[in-house]
Amino acid sequence: MSRLRVQSFGISLDGYGAGPNQDLQHPLGVNGFDLMEWFVSTRLWRTMQGQADGETGIDNQMAEQGFAGIGAWILGRNMFGPVRGPWPDDSWKGWWGDEPPYHTPVFVLTHYPRAPLRMAGGTEFRFVTEGIHAALEQAKAAAGERDVRIGGGVSTVRQYLEAALIDELHLAVRPVLLGTGEHLFNGIDMRALGYECARSVAGERATHVFLRKRPR
Ligand SMILES: NC(=O)c1ccc[n+]([C@@H]2O[C@H](COP(=O)([O-])OP(=O)(O)OC[C@H]3O[C@@H](n4cnc5c(N)ncnc54)[C@H](OP(=O)(O)O)[C@@H]3O)[C@@H](O)[C@H]2O)c1
Repeated sequence: MSRLRVQSFGISLDGYGAGPNQDLQHPLGVNGFDLMEWFVSTRLWRTMQGQADGETGIDNQMAEQGFAGIGAWILGRNMFGPVRGPWPDDSWKGWWGDEPPYHTPVFVLTHYPRAPLRMAGGTEFRFVTEGIHAALEQAKAAAGERDVRIGGGVSTVRQYLEAALIDELHLAVRPVLLGTGEHLFNGIDMRALGYECARSVAGERATHVFLRKRPR
């Protein structure tokens, strides 16, 4: 059965999933890059950048499994880019260049309508203005038997958590403090929502923690 998964979501020791004040120079917010330092060292990421190097340890395995069996993605509009308010034009096409690493339909939550954007390599950004349930329905239809991955950012993950719709949440906990930014769990009672910690694995630069819904 198709599942809804969050994978490789970087989080600081004090619980932040992004730094504050995102802009073109700070895609993850100020100091937010610290959260993904584990990911950009992996062979997987380096291959995506057209490089032949990169590390092949536990962190790399964790990054790779996040891309396995995914048939559609859901992103928040701020993860897609730093443009806010009504789209001024179609010039912003994401952070990832002409060929984004998704290779599936990607449903972008936003309050501002925009025509779909077809990219090289099979990625199509489709903008959904009807909320999280509509985005999930469309993503599931596109994914078929495969899973749907929520890429982020924080607000998007929080909304799907609060609705208890996420089946598995893989956090890459980094030994850094952000102090401020977008907090992942603040005000969310994960236990009451039925989540438990299924396993944790020590990687080279992050500790990988898997949360899942408790079997009923
Ligand atoms: N730690 C990680 O692994 C990780 C992963 C991915 C991203 N990030 C970072 O997280 C940050 C972005 O997170 P974020 O919390 O600021 O934002 P986000 O979840 O990416 O996007 C939030 C925006 O999406 C739109 N949106 C969200 N829910 C909606 C709904 N139900 N209906 C309609 N529109 C909706 C709204 O934009 P509009 O109203 O403007 O349309 C909202 O302001 C970035 O810095 C990003 O780099 C971190």
